[in-house]
Amino acid sequence: MKIEEMLQHAKEARELSYSPYSKYAVGAVIVTKDDKFFYGANIENAAYPSGICAERCALFHTYMHGYKKEDIVALCLVADSELFPYPCGACRQVIDELMPKDAKIIVGNLENKYMETSIRELLPYSFDSANLEK
Ligand code: THU
Repeated sequence: MKIEEMLQHAKEARELSYSPYSKYAVGAVIVTKDDKFFYGANIENAAYPSGICAERCALFHTYMHGYKKEDIVALCLVADSELFPYPCGACRQVIDELMPKDAKIIVGNLENKYMETSIRELLPYSFDSANLEK
C-alpha cells in the first residue's frame, strides 16, 4: 500500500477520534501483509489516564481480528499539526512488543507531510521478552 493511501486511511480513522479534552485528534492505521487495514483513534476519558492513544487502539483492533506481529507491515499516524504525532512512551513500549522491529512507522499530518521511521529507531535498547529469559 502506498504511503499516500495509508495517510488517507489514517485521516479517516482520525475522524473517529473522541478527544473533547485535548482537542488533539489522532488517527492510526495498521496495514497487514494481506493488505487489510485496521483503524484506531485516540479515545479520551474525563478521568484522563483512562483514555487510549490511536496507535494502541489500532494495534489492539488488529490483534482482535486474529493478526499477529509477523502479519504487520506498517503503522501510519496522522494529526493536524506541523510537528508530527510521534508515539508516546507507553505506545512505543506496546509497539515494540506487538509489531516487527523494522516495520514501517509513518507519522504525518493533514497536508500529507510525513516522515518514516521504525520502532528500532524510536525505542533503542528496549526492555522486551528477551530480558525475562535467564
Ligand atoms: N495521542 C495519541 O493518540 N497518539 C500519539 O502519538 C500522541 C498522543 C493522544 C493522547 C491524547 O488523547 C491526545 O493525543 C493528547 O495527548
